[in-house]
Amino acid sequence: MARSSRLTRLDAFSKTVEDARIKTTSGGIVTLISVLVVMYLIAGEVGDYRRIEVVPELIVDKSRGEQLPISLNITFPHMPCNLLTLDVMDVSGEQQSGVTHGIHLTRLSKFPESSPIDITALDLHADEAPHLAPDYCGECYGATPPDGKKCCNTCTEVREAYEKMGWAFGLGEGVTQCEREHYGEHIKAMSEEGCNISGHLQVNKVVGNFHFAPGKSFSTPQMHVHDLQQFFESPKEHKLSHTIHHLSFGPDLPVGEVSHNPLDGATHEAPERAYNYMYFIKVVSTSFLPLGVKPGQDGAIETHQYSVTSHERSLQGGSDKEHPDTLHARGGIPGVFFSYDISPMKVVNREVRQRTFVGLLTGICAIIGGTLTVATLVDRTVYEGLGKMKKMHEG
Ligand SMILES: *[C@@H]1O[C@H](CO)[C@@H](O)[C@H](O)[C@H]1NC(C)=O
Repeated sequence: MARSSRLTRLDAFSKTVEDARIKTTSGGIVTLISVLVVMYLIAGEVGDYRRIEVVPELIVDKSRGEQLPISLNITFPHMPCNLLTLDVMDVSGEQQSGVTHGIHLTRLSKFPESSPIDITALDLHADEAPHLAPDYCGECYGATPPDGKKCCNTCTEVREAYEKMGWAFGLGEGVTQCEREHYGEHIKAMSEEGCNISGHLQVNKVVGNFHFAPGKSFSTPQMHVHDLQQFFESPKEHKLSHTIHHLSFGPDLPVGEVSHNPLDGATHEAPERAYNYMYFIKVVSTSFLPLGVKPGQDGAIETHQYSVTSHERSLQGGSDKEHPDTLHARGGIPGVFFSYDISPMKVVNREVRQRTFVGLLTGICAIIGGTLTVATLVDRTVYEGLGKMKKMHEG
């Protein structure tokens, strides 16, 4: 009994005597309003708890030896596919000349219609070696025959032999093999066409460039050159106008993220043949971690964003009649160059919940308690106010 009475003194929640309890209309209204307020606030709190935010974080990119995936889709409306060459070079000295692996060329009929032609492969070899005598041995015109053979039996072989020597080939005039295969006519017929290049390539993740330039490329240890004869001497004026439908360095980030590739949709019209476009691209590694996924786990997206500046210039100097060879001497070839640089920083976009579950419970308790306290105050004030008014009325 004694212990109980000591505890009784401690009771902070002193009870109202049952008889003194009365229910009033005003109390009912206040109760109803406070229930609504509590529900509204709890809904807000739960919504807040469920909200997922993407928090970007900047770290030093410590990954090593990675490859940089490139996907591209570019249309050249005034360049036939047989003239376009894609080369990749990087500071490590690695070169991929005339890249075709993973790259798809689509011939486009004469601009402006630009609808794809149904023959997608280059059928330059269609008439190759029709009916040659078994002991036929074609001349190589002074070039070394390819792959240890003694003869150049087809136009392609003569072309390869010329390429090896670093000689310009042109339309193959005077080369019997090419005249037999109508090589020049094929090339002329194609010269009205455009070309779409799309596909994927992998490059080392170091500073480098990839470029589209007219003509076959040759690389010697000292330099990288393109056979520009066909490009400059074609009666049809080829130009390096281009539309970049798509250029990205890895998978897209989920929708809602900043996933815009700045070059998508870029179109440039070249005013003349000898024109050079440069795109300077800064590639930033970016990863996206959905809620609960750690780096390197399934579901984490590793990709790259980029920023770009571009520059274009005419290679034609003052006089219009400058010989193509001088262009080379001046260190410029017509083409579209993408020069990429890798940023040392990496952006990690992490999905996080801002609130914990315990925080949610605390919030809900605070809402209920606070609302009830305020409601009690309001109720008491209204009740007493009404009582006073009643008395004044009676008095
Ligand atoms: C390249 O882009 C063009 C234009 O947007 C589109 O029609 C074509 O299907 C794309 N090619 C590929 C392989 O995605």
